[in-house]
Amino acid sequence: MKERNPDPSKLSIGYFFPQGQTDLIWSDEAARRTPPITRKVLIDMAQAAEAVGFDSLFLADTWSGHQRVSEQFGHMSPKHHAPLLAMGLFGVTEHIGIISTFHTTFHQPAHVARMGATLHSFSEGRWAWNVVTGYSEPEVGLFGASSMVEHDERYAMADEFTSVVKRLWEETEPVDIDGKYYRVTGRLKEPRPGTAGRPLIVNAGASPAGLNYAAKHADLLVLAGNTDQIFLDAKSELDRLGKEHGRTDKVGISPWAVSIIRDNEGEAEEEYERLASTVNEAAAIELAADILGNIDSVKKMFDKMGKDEAIRLLGAATVNIHLMGTPDQVAEKIIALKGSSEMDSLLISFPLWSPQELARFTPVLQRLQDAGIWTPPEKRNYSW
Ligand SMILES: Cc1cc2nc3c(=O)[nH]c(=O)nc-3n(C[C@H](O)[C@H](O)[C@H](O)COP(=O)(O)O)c2cc1C
Repeated sequence: MKERNPDPSKLSIGYFFPQGQTDLIWSDEAARRTPPITRKVLIDMAQAAEAVGFDSLFLADTWSGHQRVSEQFGHMSPKHHAPLLAMGLFGVTEHIGIISTFHTTFHQPAHVARMGATLHSFSEGRWAWNVVTGYSEPEVGLFGASSMVEHDERYAMADEFTSVVKRLWEETEPVDIDGKYYRVTGRLKEPRPGTAGRPLIVNAGASPAGLNYAAKHADLLVLAGNTDQIFLDAKSELDRLGKEHGRTDKVGISPWAVSIIRDNEGEAEEEYERLASTVNEAAAIELAADILGNIDSVKKMFDKMGKDEAIRLLGAATVNIHLMGTPDQVAEKIIALKGSSEMDSLLISFPLWSPQELARFTPVLQRLQDAGIWTPPEKRNYSW
């Protein structure tokens, strides 16, 4: 069984696995230049990430196919259902951790408890659950509901949901829970994770309700953002709220970065500019509308800011940490960020993903190891 990283001075490095031709930069050129998402390509990517030494893979997930332009051009599409993809990838990897997303709002805790217990047992402790409540209005109809549950109430549901899942994992005797949202009695069939080494819980809540959820339940918080202050503020808020929830351990922080690595100075930045200038405007409006609100409000924002600026902001990952440069430059940025942001983990997207692009990260990891902030797989027994 995998353990948890015992040394906070060591970073774990997650790879944002392709769940679409593009994920963070909705560039038509990136969608064209990345390999088609087939079984073989997905297996090759997982095995390449493991061979390079990444600690974990992060599998995002959403349910609804209402975003027609994005689907047509491959922006955040196609997406395999994350826990099922995780199971397939566990069969072809040996040590890499896999964080898979699963939504709470329209499901039952026993589904996740059973699914997670199986993934945890089969992978020998390599599975983590990225808890999301879901935010997309069109998603609700798939589950027979007429409207999305209000934001903070979704987190209240997720709080109760997660408490039930943890109890089903941990308790050896039948539970009898009569909560506000969930009524659960009985005992989960083996395998159960038990109290020692339950699956890692990850969350990306950035709102006050989201942070409060993370402070109570999560082990790791993934955050978009491009300044140290965002990460430091989240960390101190998590510490404060964690104490209120009676926690003695700390919630780790994982900034979400985007990276292009090239051998010669300036080449990675040029590549990024090419991608930023080929962001698909219609897809950016669709995807941003999902994240920020309705399409009309996002179109207004596009008008107000100016189209080019809005596309850059929303479609070119300007709100994420940028790791563009030579291997030395990227390693220096990560080492500096580790010091200034006190991050515990780092999640990286490679917009021009392929096994060869991942291999470009090998010399970066070597430098991080030399700097004493990262441990290679053969010398660790943890994924996070
Ligand atoms: C790195 C990262 C990955 C995310 N992955 C997903 C995902 O796969 N599915 C999803 O529905 N939401 C995903 N989200 C969105 C979060 O669940 C959440 O809605 C968002 O961070 C806003 O948090 P808030 O509602 O607390 O403000 C992700 C967010 C981040 C930063």
